[in-house]
Order: sequence, then C-alpha cells, then structure tokens
Amino acid sequence: MKMNVMGAVSGLALLVSTAAVAEPTAEVLHYWTSGGEAKSVAVLQEEFAANGGTWTDMPVAGGGGDAAGTALRARVLSGNAPTAAQIKGPAIQEWYEEGVLADISAVAEANNWAEVLPASIAGHMKCEGTWCAAPVNVHRVDWIWANAEVLAANGIDMPTTWDEFNAAAAKLQDAGIIPLAHGGQAWQDATVFEAVALGILGAEGYHKAFVDLDTDTLTSDSMKAVFDQMRTMRGYVDSNFSGRDWNLATAMVMNGEAAFQIMGDWAKGEFMAAGQVPGEDFLCISTPGEGFLYNVDSFAMFDVGGDDKKEGQALLAELVVGKNFQEVFNLNKGSIPARTDVALDAFDSCAHLSAADMAASNEGGSLLPSYAHGMALRGAQSGAITDVVTAHFNSDMSSDEAVEMLANAIANSL
Ligand code: BGC
Repeated sequence: MKMNVMGAVSGLALLVSTAAVAEPTAEVLHYWTSGGEAKSVAVLQEEFAANGGTWTDMPVAGGGGDAAGTALRARVLSGNAPTAAQIKGPAIQEWYEEGVLADISAVAEANNWAEVLPASIAGHMKCEGTWCAAPVNVHRVDWIWANAEVLAANGIDMPTTWDEFNAAAAKLQDAGIIPLAHGGQAWQDATVFEAVALGILGAEGYHKAFVDLDTDTLTSDSMKAVFDQMRTMRGYVDSNFSGRDWNLATAMVMNGEAAFQIMGDWAKGEFMAAGQVPGEDFLCISTPGEGFLYNVDSFAMFDVGGDDKKEGQALLAELVVGKNFQEVFNLNKGSIPARTDVALDAFDSCAHLSAADMAASNEGGSLLPSYAHGMALRGAQSGAITDVVTAHFNSDMSSDEAVEMLANAIANSL
C-alpha cells in the first residue's frame, strides 16, 4: 500500500501529539461495593475525571477483599495486570518481590509524602526504599457499633469489658433481640477474633501472637480464654448468620433487629450512607481493652506499558494522597485520613475518638497492625490463623484443641 506524503505527515503528527498529551487512564481493581464504599470510591472516580482521567472500574464484590485478591492474581498471572489495585499491608511487598509493581517514588517525592504521612504508615508503602503504594486512610478494626434506641430501651450502656458485653448480650437475648449481628464469613470471624484477642491478651500479647507468631503466646491460657469468649459469642449470633455479608449485618443493627456489631469503621460508612447519625441513631466504642488495631487501605500500581496508563498511575497516586481526597473520601468511608495535616473539623465523634486513640496508642506502644485485615502478616500465615478461627467458630471444637491447631497451622505455614 502506498502512502502519500500528507498521510505520512498527519500520521506522524498524530503519533507525536498522542505521546505529548497522553490522557491519563486507569483500570482500577477494588472491592468497595457496599453502599458506603461505593459512595467513597465515587469521590475518587470524580476527582480522576475532573483531572482529565478516564477510569475503568473493576469492582470485585466480597468484603475483606479475598475475592479481589484472587481476581488480581489471575489477571497478573495471565500477563494482563490492571493499572492499579487496592492492596495493602505485607501483600504490597509480596507483589513487589514478584517484580510486577511500578515505582511511584517520583510522585511521592514531588508531593512530600515523607513529610505528611506518619512513619508507621509510610513504612507499609515502601519496598526496598522505593515508594510502591499510596495510602488512602486509616481504618480502625476494634470497634463495637450499636443501635442507640435498642440499648436505651433495654437499659444497657456500651460495654467496656467483655464481661459487660456478655451480660448485655444475655439480657438482650432474653428480650428477643439478636445480641450480635454477624456474618459467617472467615474474614468476619477473624475480625471479631482479633478484637477479642487484643482485649484479652493485651497489646503486648497481641503483638507476640500475631506479629511475632510466638508459640508460647499462641498456646497460652490467655489464648484459650480468647477462644472461650469466641465460643460464648457464637451463642449471641442468630441462626441465619452463615455467609451473610458484613453490610447486611450492619443493616440489622440499623433496623434494630440486632443490638451490636463488632466490625471495622467501614461499618460507620454504611450507617452514614443510610443517613444515620453517630451518637444519636448509632453508637461507637472501641472493643474492651487497650490498644488500636489499624488497617490502612492503599493502592499499588502495576508495571504496565503505555503512556496513558503511566499518566493515569501518576495522577491516581497524586490524588489519593492529596489533601482534598483524603478528607472527602474518609468522611464517606468511615476511616480517618492517613495524612497528618488534614483538619478533622468536618469529621464525627467516632472519627475524633479514633484519631485521639491512634495518637495515644502510638505513644504508648499499643498501635498494632490488624492481622485479620492483612496488615500484620503475609498471606500464608494470616490465612493459617483464620482457618483455625473459623473452624473453631463453626464447630464444637474446644479451646484446648483450637490453640494446638493454631500452633500447628502456623508451624506448617512457615
Ligand atoms: C478494607 C475496607 C473495606 C472492608 C470491607 C477491609 O479489609 O480495608 O476498605 O471496606 O474490608 O470490605
């Protein structure tokens, strides 16, 4: 085929202009599909579009992100990685070690991330000294949520010890109310378990068990007491709990069918999306015991070709750590900003409690990574623990058997 000179010139011009003004694009794999989550991710989509970006959404439903993790793995293994994916904790470094992540240090340095992020959070975003992920928030995991009216009608205060929790639950049960809204999915069992463990083992014991994987702690009498409390709580859950999504459990608290839910503060995003007001319609308190279990959502960029995608990655990274996004997103999401320089004036009382407790626990050495939400351990180890937790919760396994199984599962996973 012959091409005339004009054709060649305009073809070249086209090439040059596409290279010079590559429009940012991003295919983003995430698992924010509930009401509150969808409102939150929409904030990012809007900011991305307002800055000239084209967003291709790849939502993978499934709380806690297990399904999203599986979908991501399949995409990367087939050589078709998304431009960006919602991954967090040590999984970031696991992906980095596979050589598939993009280096976003240029954006991080240009935007001073080292100055505006606390060192504890920045550490999770680094891979061998380079920036390999961008944080969006700090979720706290160890919360109890409650229906204010149900508690008032039954003369119950928010529990501050596990004994008080049990006494309140027994009273509610007698009154025909489901004490604990729970969804029987492994990650939800693990969420309740780590909150109970923090309360019973204390911050140091939690660290030994779920960060150091210390066998003595994993098999201790205190750990048996954690499983005892899980067994007690199994009795406070309704018979239809199996497989229920976490946001449906939150809805049970909202409509008064159930009194409490133990869940991270993405549950608050759900209450707020439904127009409920903290302190009036629903109440929040940290689960009994000292400490703060943090869970930082973040995006990692994959090493993909194409100027448009690279532009998209840079824009996305810049926006998510940007001040405006960190405020608006977190107002919807239920979390607090990862940046330290975002004013919390517009945030509610639960967020203020979270920020104050985070600062205090940071001082006191009890700011701890959530194992259940992938912040403390690599997948093999956290998965091994969760398998035992869920097997125990869904059977009549004794606490003695559970701790033995826990130690074995960890030993086999290493
Ligand atoms: C994530 C949250 C998410 C929740 C429910 C957590 O692990 O950090 O962003 O809302 O799971 O899917």
